[in-house]
Amino acid sequence: MQTRIPIKNILAANQPQTQTKVCGWVRSVRSGKEVSFIALNDGSCFATLQLVVDPQLLETLPPGLGTGACLSVIGDLIASPAEGQDWELTVTALELLGGVDESFPLQKKRHSFEFLRSIAHLRPRSNSFGAVFRMRSALAFAVHQYFQQRNFVNVHTPIITANDCEGAGEMFRVTTLDPQNPPHKAGQVDWSRDFFGARTGLTVSGQLQGELFATAFSDIYTFGPTFRAENSNTSRHAAEFWMIEPERAFCDLTGNCDLAEDFLRYMVGYALEHCREDLDFFDQRIEKGLIDKLQSLYKAEFHRVSYTAAVSQLQNSGQSFEFPVVWGNDLQSEHERYLTEKIYGGPVFVTDYPKGIKAFYMRDNDDGKTVAAMDLLVPRVGEIIGGSQREERLDRLQQKMAAQGIAAGDLDWYLDIRRWGSCAHAGFGLGFERLLMYLTGMENIRDVIPFPRTPGHADF
Ligand code: 4AD
Ligand code: MG
Repeated sequence: MQTRIPIKNILAANQPQTQTKVCGWVRSVRSGKEVSFIALNDGSCFATLQLVVDPQLLETLPPGLGTGACLSVIGDLIASPAEGQDWELTVTALELLGGVDESFPLQKKRHSFEFLRSIAHLRPRSNSFGAVFRMRSALAFAVHQYFQQRNFVNVHTPIITANDCEGAGEMFRVTTLDPQNPPHKAGQVDWSRDFFGARTGLTVSGQLQGELFATAFSDIYTFGPTFRAENSNTSRHAAEFWMIEPERAFCDLTGNCDLAEDFLRYMVGYALEHCREDLDFFDQRIEKGLIDKLQSLYKAEFHRVSYTAAVSQLQNSGQSFEFPVVWGNDLQSEHERYLTEKIYGGPVFVTDYPKGIKAFYMRDNDDGKTVAAMDLLVPRVGEIIGGSQREERLDRLQQKMAAQGIAAGDLDWYLDIRRWGSCAHAGFGLGFERLLMYLTGMENIRDVIPFPRTPGHADF
């Protein structure tokens, strides 16, 4: 069988070619008396290839040619005399691999993202989702390239775990016990008789295991799926999302912010350099001015402000918020967005949060009130990164766990890091989908993940 050439390669070669084979899905057919035009897309790039076909050749096909049909063609690539494309393929042989009928749901008109979400197998064949998922793939590669070039060791942290890293009680349970009739002991479900001999769930973060490896390899990162049974039906939360979590030994909060800033800037630069065709589409159709925004972000300095100073700025802003701004309370999304969009007009790190609202593992500051935490806030998306310097002092960590009601026995393996050869270390988590929302201009997290899982939805 003759080898198929991806449309991306054909267009990139930018020269005439003879007897080239192309396969793909029909975007549109325009039939004339003398000649017919078919726009073919194979997903390798945003552009379609214009096929120029003799109508007599089309008559030899079985029924089923139309938008959505799958074709294999052979033809000669020539400079296109018409406007709209540089090259076109004069077809000499054509095979209908998979036809369509009138029930095909994606006709030429534009469809809403909600509608496309309901037809999983056709969604990636649309312009918008083609661009989103090509970009998702390119950026996933860029994540690995960034860390590998800097000698960070990639760790595959477990998906099933007995530890609720964030302590927010949002773990999905993993069990093989019979839900109708689980074993009991002293009036309670006896988890010691479950598959793992303990109560387990899907991980909410790879951080705790990541810390273990950071105190052996110095610089590590994880990049994997993360699960949260958080019943929040917002456009920024998914129950299954991908998180990138670097962890560095010999690093403090400032070093952690420096890494986050450098990494985010690299991702923006990578998208501008390698995803230009898809970005052009987002710039025209999804968020006007997106490319300018990314270019200025690439050069911008990220601001850094303490939580305490941010709270004063919000209180003195004269803005009325739905939730009051009170020192000691978590910042709501309306506060975060006001800070990054109105006060700073760009990315801002908020650091040193009150210890009462943050996870047990964050390092106590000397003021006795705050911890060495950082969140990176960006316009439109809000929190894109959350991280901290970790509490490396055994006694402090034990006190903090006790204060948050965490049984020391449950995390003894984690405390061991502090028992032998402890050192200052820090890390953060970047939500991959939030990054994609930011870089594509897409408004809903469901539209940057191939198969979204949200409350009430685990279709496909
Ligand atoms: O702020 P979070 O909860 O931090 C952690 O999980 C730390 N253990 C990370 C670390 O220090 N290694 O989550 C980190 C990021 C958030 O800033 C956000 O971008 C994303 O993960 N995120 C979500 N993305 C989509 N849907 C959700 N439900 C998310 N929850 C968090
Ligand atoms: Mg957070």
